[in-house]
Amino acid sequence: MPKKKLGILLSGRGSNFEAIADNAEKEVLDAEIAIVISNVADARGLEVARRRNLNACFVDPRGKSREEYDREVVALLTKSKVDLICLAGYMRILSPYFIQQFPSRILNIHPALLPAFKGLDAQKQALEYGVKVTGCTVHFVDEGVDSGPIVLQATVPVEEGDTEELLARRILREEHRLYSKAIALVLEGLCEVEGRSVHIHSSSVNAD
Ligand code: GAR
Repeated sequence: MPKKKLGILLSGRGSNFEAIADNAEKEVLDAEIAIVISNVADARGLEVARRRNLNACFVDPRGKSREEYDREVVALLTKSKVDLICLAGYMRILSPYFIQQFPSRILNIHPALLPAFKGLDAQKQALEYGVKVTGCTVHFVDEGVDSGPIVLQATVPVEEGDTEELLARRILREEHRLYSKAIALVLEGLCEVEGRSVHIHSSSVNAD
């Protein structure tokens, strides 16, 4: 069977993308990265993708409406015949047009236990709120912000004396593990979305 194709969208460092690429390379994840797209010309993740000889594209957002921009990105993803799109630190809101092109085929990772701490600086929000446990969430993308049906979550303790950086690093380790696991479940057709719930038809449904 040909490998399932992933499209990765990122805006920055790209450590989640690297973890996915490593797992695909080691065949821990049965998929290949068909294209990496960024809205930021000098995103580190794009540079890493080029070094790994992946198809890496910068799509310049300047002077384009959200939908005009997304039409360009969708055209690239379609040309690459992607089966699943993974947002990996992609700091743009997708237009309804984009989302409608790929129903239940766009995943995002967020550094908090949604629905807590949506939006930017989730780790800072967690520290400021004083929670004792936070974590990360992989979810399908819908037209809201960080609001789509949840595929997997993993918890991370907040420790005494944590800074935003320390907490972010601890969460990131879990993100790197959780994202590939969620991707595999979706690609294997084991996730069934019913309203807000994602039913996972697998013998090992927990995040560990
Ligand atoms: C990750 O922590 C990811 O969860 C977060 O940005 C970071 C990207 O890191 N995404 C969001 O906050 C989206 N709302 P990376 O570029 O090293 O993968």
